[in-house]
Amino acid sequence: MVILGIETSCDETAAAIVEDGTTVLSNVVASSQNLHAKTGGIIPEEAARKQIESIIPVINEALQQNGHSEKNIDSIAVTYGPGLIGSLLVGVETAKTLSFMWSKPIIPVNHLVAHLYANFLGKRQEVKDGNKLPIFPAVGLVVSGGHTDLVLMRDHGDITLLGATRDDAAGEAFDKTSRLLGLGYPGGPAISAAAENFQLTNTNSQLKLFPRPLVNDDSLDFSFSGLKTSVNNYVNKNQNASKTELAAEVQEAIVDVLVTKSVKAVELYKPKSFLLAGGVSANLRLREKLQQKIKVDLYLPDLKYTTDNAAMIASAAYFQNNPVPWQEVNANPELSITD
Ligand code: KG4
Ligand code: ZN
Repeated sequence: MVILGIETSCDETAAAIVEDGTTVLSNVVASSQNLHAKTGGIIPEEAARKQIESIIPVINEALQQNGHSEKNIDSIAVTYGPGLIGSLLVGVETAKTLSFMWSKPIIPVNHLVAHLYANFLGKRQEVKDGNKLPIFPAVGLVVSGGHTDLVLMRDHGDITLLGATRDDAAGEAFDKTSRLLGLGYPGGPAISAAAENFQLTNTNSQLKLFPRPLVNDDSLDFSFSGLKTSVNNYVNKNQNASKTELAAEVQEAIVDVLVTKSVKAVELYKPKSFLLAGGVSANLRLREKLQQKIKVDLYLPDLKYTTDNAAMIASAAYFQNNPVPWQEVNANPELSITD
């Protein structure tokens, strides 16, 4: 089954064609990130305006990349939430129009669930080649700009929330502390690049400057809002502090908390697989530490599928396989991972 995926929940405009939920035939992402880098964050109105300009060219490009015309498409998948309302509407209304014009079924997809499916792209059913599909039950950690969710996935469409952030998301913590350190937007790549340049020395043999909130708490919840206050206070008192060192400290604090809670979830729920997902899953330190500590099959998405893309949307749609009449598809900015 060949699915055209469409994703416009935040500042990307993306379209992809995926066969049987795993084989990516084309994948196009246009981002207005450079525009937002100038203002240090996303201006929703600006993002949606750019998306209106790019959506048709991006879909055309995805169709053309593999010589596909709409005749080869079986269904259309679209992100209907969560996200910015203006941005979501661009994708949803375009998908509904195409569904009506082409007489193709439409499958609405939850963006957060779809991040988990980045781990299914390029995988196969056969176990032989070491490239197998994740086996359920799986524990998933979805770490993005707006969400930090630990979930138990018993099957496709069977997701239970185990823990979530009580305030800022992990990606938001990277973005906000990056701004405090003057390292730019988006903060995750900026902090991790700066941290790479920091060398531990005898005088700085450990990275323990900032707190690890809720790390000893019994719950699987997270809290990252205190981190920016700590960083702010530290920077105010130590004007000449090294930015690379502070970036390494921030990254280590966030990664430590994410890994500790992930290990706890695996111990409690004994899954067969662990799936890392969302924009923050691009973080190499997080990947390295999970590889050291997670004792079940660990799935890390290909770097090109960590941030927002439409291939993961088409994959999620294939496995959930629930087409609805186009009249029933509505954008829902507040959707949660279990909706
Ligand atoms: O999933 P995503 O692309 O968009 C949302 O759905 O939110 O995630 C974006 C988030 C941003 O907060 C960004 O700073 C973070 O992912 N991010 C990273 C890295 N690359 C992107 N965080 C840490 N390390 C990275 N290398
Ligand atoms: Zn996302």
